[in-house]
Amino acid sequence: MSIQNPAQPIRVVVLPGDGIGPEVIASAVSVLQHAASAHRLDVLLTERPVAGAAIEAEGRPLPETTLQLCREADAVLFGAAGAPRWDHLRGDARPGAAIHGLRQRLGLSVNLRPVRAFPALHGCGPLRPEVTRGSDFIVVRELAAGAYYGAHGRSGEGDAERAHDTITYSRRQIERVVRFAFDLARGRNRHLTSVDKANALWSGRLWRDVTSELAADNPDITLDHQLVDSFALRMLQQPSRLDVVVAENLFGDILSDEAAAISGSLGMMASASLNPDGGPALYEPIHGTAPDIAGRGIANPVGAILSVALLFEHSLHLPQIAAEIRTAVDAALDAGARTPDLGGSSTTAEMTDAVLHALLGAPAGAGA
Ligand code: NAI
Ligand code: MG
Repeated sequence: MSIQNPAQPIRVVVLPGDGIGPEVIASAVSVLQHAASAHRLDVLLTERPVAGAAIEAEGRPLPETTLQLCREADAVLFGAAGAPRWDHLRGDARPGAAIHGLRQRLGLSVNLRPVRAFPALHGCGPLRPEVTRGSDFIVVRELAAGAYYGAHGRSGEGDAERAHDTITYSRRQIERVVRFAFDLARGRNRHLTSVDKANALWSGRLWRDVTSELAADNPDITLDHQLVDSFALRMLQQPSRLDVVVAENLFGDILSDEAAAISGSLGMMASASLNPDGGPALYEPIHGTAPDIAGRGIANPVGAILSVALLFEHSLHLPQIAAEIRTAVDAALDAGARTPDLGGSSTTAEMTDAVLHALLGAPAGAGA
């Protein structure tokens, strides 16, 4: 069933950003448009420069008018931010301030990063197929607090020069994301792994205490606590045992990039950033701008395409269309489409065409 009011198109703001961002977002937009039209959904796309592209066009990474458009939208599709040419910029002038600003101003405190071993890619990544086979879990990363948002500073000179970043978590911030993770586990295999550093960090101790307390409200979910250092290894040794993993911001960022080894490439990884109180959500591949391959037309678009699947699922409540997109990605991989990061020679356009071919062959009507 569609949530769409026929008088009102679905409004999606498209922010391609820098580097390979525009390349993979063009693919994602094309999948979004074809999926929507196959289901007779009316989607209004509004594209704006953001990050480095907005610094060049409008003098700042996140123009206020763009932020306002995002606030009024149903969802935001984001590419990636940053490139060496803007590395000298600091604070709110940096390209990366665009994504941090969007997360903060839209109240996006929960970041979902699904990890799946794609059957067609067994043996493609660095891990043995018998280790990754059957892996299908979600990393829930806290997105609004921790080291990226605590007090930062740099002072002194020479040998006395120093810098600091502080990790602060309130009980409320931990409860918000951990409750979400318990609920997510309830719709899956009812197993939650909470990752912290409770043996060394005070914020980790609070994280573990609050999570243990919430376990009492969720007796139907099995909860494991894991220390982040040993978990980083265990995740690669036994990934198929995981269901939902919840972690604070910095740990979730690092672990989800590492988890790309299970899916075969960073380019395969999608994400959804949600406000648990409602409002527009933001969808983006987890990779960055990949300056080493930008402009060559060989970036893997699958992370961006699967971010569109998450958009259909979480913002439009059309899980059937999300499932069709995921099935189309599997079919494209089965047919042998592979960008160079997966060991193949397909271009971004060829990989996208393979997904579209599979998608448009799928029966229309479900989910509309
Ligand atoms: P990165 O994710 O851009 O690239 C890491 C490696 O993975 C590179 O070798 C790259 O070629 C490869 N890669 C990434 N995405 C790919 C794709 N779709 N297809 C094929 N290969 C892919 O991370 P890196 O190199 O650490 O950062 C580059 C820039 O991106 C920096 O300016 C960084 O600040 C920015 N960045 C932005 C993010 C965002 O906008 N959310 C997230 C991470 C980094
Ligand atoms: Mg990252």
